[in-house]
Amino acid sequence: MQSSAIELECFDATSALHSNRVSDLSDVFCEPLAMTSAYTFASAEEAAQRFSGQRPGNVYTRFTNPTVQAFESRVAALEQAESAVAFASGMGAFTALCHAFLQQGDNIVCSRDVFGTTVNAFSLYMARFGIEARFVDLTDLAQWQQAIDGKTRLVVLESPSNPVLKIGDIRAISALAHAKGALLVVDNTLLTPVFHRPHGLGADLVIHSAGKYMDGQGRALAGVVTGSRSNMEALRGVLRTLGISCSPFNAWLLLKSLETLEVRMLRVQQSALELAHWLNEQQLVSAVHYTGLAEHPQHALACSQQDGHGGLLSFEIVGGQAAAWQWIDALRCVARCTNIGDTRSMVTHPASTTHGRLSADARRQAGITDGLIRLCVGLERVADIKADLQRAFDAVHLQRTAQGLSRSALVNG
Ligand SMILES: Cc1ncc(COP(=O)(O)O)c(C=O)c1O
Repeated sequence: MQSSAIELECFDATSALHSNRVSDLSDVFCEPLAMTSAYTFASAEEAAQRFSGQRPGNVYTRFTNPTVQAFESRVAALEQAESAVAFASGMGAFTALCHAFLQQGDNIVCSRDVFGTTVNAFSLYMARFGIEARFVDLTDLAQWQQAIDGKTRLVVLESPSNPVLKIGDIRAISALAHAKGALLVVDNTLLTPVFHRPHGLGADLVIHSAGKYMDGQGRALAGVVTGSRSNMEALRGVLRTLGISCSPFNAWLLLKSLETLEVRMLRVQQSALELAHWLNEQQLVSAVHYTGLAEHPQHALACSQQDGHGGLLSFEIVGGQAAAWQWIDALRCVARCTNIGDTRSMVTHPASTTHGRLSADARRQAGITDGLIRLCVGLERVADIKADLQRAFDAVHLQRTAQGLSRSALVNG
């Protein structure tokens, strides 16, 4: 019988909450998921000490969480950095960088070829706080030198750039940044620490959109920054206050994914290289952008600072947007999708999607032609990817032939 409207006499609600709690997971083989907001304290004094920072330990998951910390220290080890801080997304990480290291009157010098939203974060949002963003050509050292001055606090680049795979000379740009007291930030999302460890080339801060190759399965959003202990402390202060925290669940997924990062990166690179050579031979292709090709204008620089070239390439199809769209629509296996680093191969038409909001002039400056197609190579058998791409070329050829025939039929009337 019920003792009151909301309590059953024969059911021990307190026991449901407190009996036989498991707190020791030290022998589990897969890292445990600490899906918790809060932490317990052995005494009131310990609580006070943890809050004040006198004693290490967790206080609240917005600040620290054991699963997120496991992910952070794994990434720090892979990037050969002292420490790391994880965030809710790659853009969350960029936002934290700005709040940690900039103040009114400072400027950011940034490659024009970084991810478009990074450009917007700096030029639209940071500008409101009196921070100037100066954009330069990734490959032109004279432009970097001219733009960086005593008010520059952050120098930002992504190498290789996406989608046209330009390379920044990280050693040289870091020397220019350090000469003026600025920090060099390198977005290493595309190559991952498997192929590229920018700290060794002079980067102070390395940033990732961790939902790309680090997850590798298109499931989770997260961002992570690596660097010196003191720079990471500055970032953690921002995290604690502004709350752009990484979900423990996403960190747990990412921890598992990192175990297979090398295997996946080597596989997509092998397929990407084979496809880049094959695309180069296609009649309808006027250019292939992949730093693994000896004819890439910065192949030597890429080889001098990278251990590999990754799984993303782009190419230009003859016939502009109409041909690019026909080609994309004929694919059956490769997905029409704008993500990077998933298990499955995917293509994007940058001019009408990721870069569609840019002016024609800005697109031209970024090298985004109407015929440019980005291919992010997945883990399928490379022969199957090639067969799908061949099907798409056949479809464009067929259409051209049909148009040619109908035109001549019209002419001959
Ligand atoms: C190279 C690069 N950096 C940063 C970002 C932003 O990361 P997120 O989408 O996790 O906010 C992206 C997103 O696509 C990216 O491709």
